[in-house]
Amino acid sequence: MLNKNIEGALNAQVEKEAYSSLLYLAMASWAEVNGIAGVAQWLYVQSDEERQHMLKLVKYINERGGQAVITGLKQPGLEFTTVKQMFDAVLTHERFISASINDIVAQCIAEKDFTTQHWLQWFVNEQIEEEANVTKILDKLKLSGENNLYLFDRDIMSMRTAPGNAAAGAEAQ
Ligand SMILES: [Fe+2]
Ligand SMILES: [Fe+2]
Repeated sequence: MLNKNIEGALNAQVEKEAYSSLLYLAMASWAEVNGIAGVAQWLYVQSDEERQHMLKLVKYINERGGQAVITGLKQPGLEFTTVKQMFDAVLTHERFISASINDIVAQCIAEKDFTTQHWLQWFVNEQIEEEANVTKILDKLKLSGENNLYLFDRDIMSMRTAPGNAAAGAEAQ
């Protein structure tokens, strides 16, 4: 059974994963409208994955005797004007999510909820992969040059690891 503090922390994470999905959907739409089709596709898939993360948390909270809370979300801002700026924003957001997951793990240890701590390891592994993937994309963007996005846009989908692969080991437990 989840204690109320851990339930609250997990519900806050439900909201953050939902917002991640919304943010990447907004970015996908921006890229699509600007004719950057590969980047748009990458972001649409990323948005779907974030929704899966949200659902994973919802199911766990409910399964452990808590109650998942679905909140309203603020509209994502789209301040960027270049693809580079946009992926910088993705990396910043993923680092924020990693820090948030780490905080919940620390809270689980403090409150001796070792079941949830163990369960959260999937998210810890997933965040390692998310940050590494976006860093690779930014490296590739630097190599291809911001003024020549043709190859970058054509190849970006091939840089995706299959969903869940990174965390497959943790999930098999
Ligand atoms: Fe996520
Ligand atoms: Fe993510």
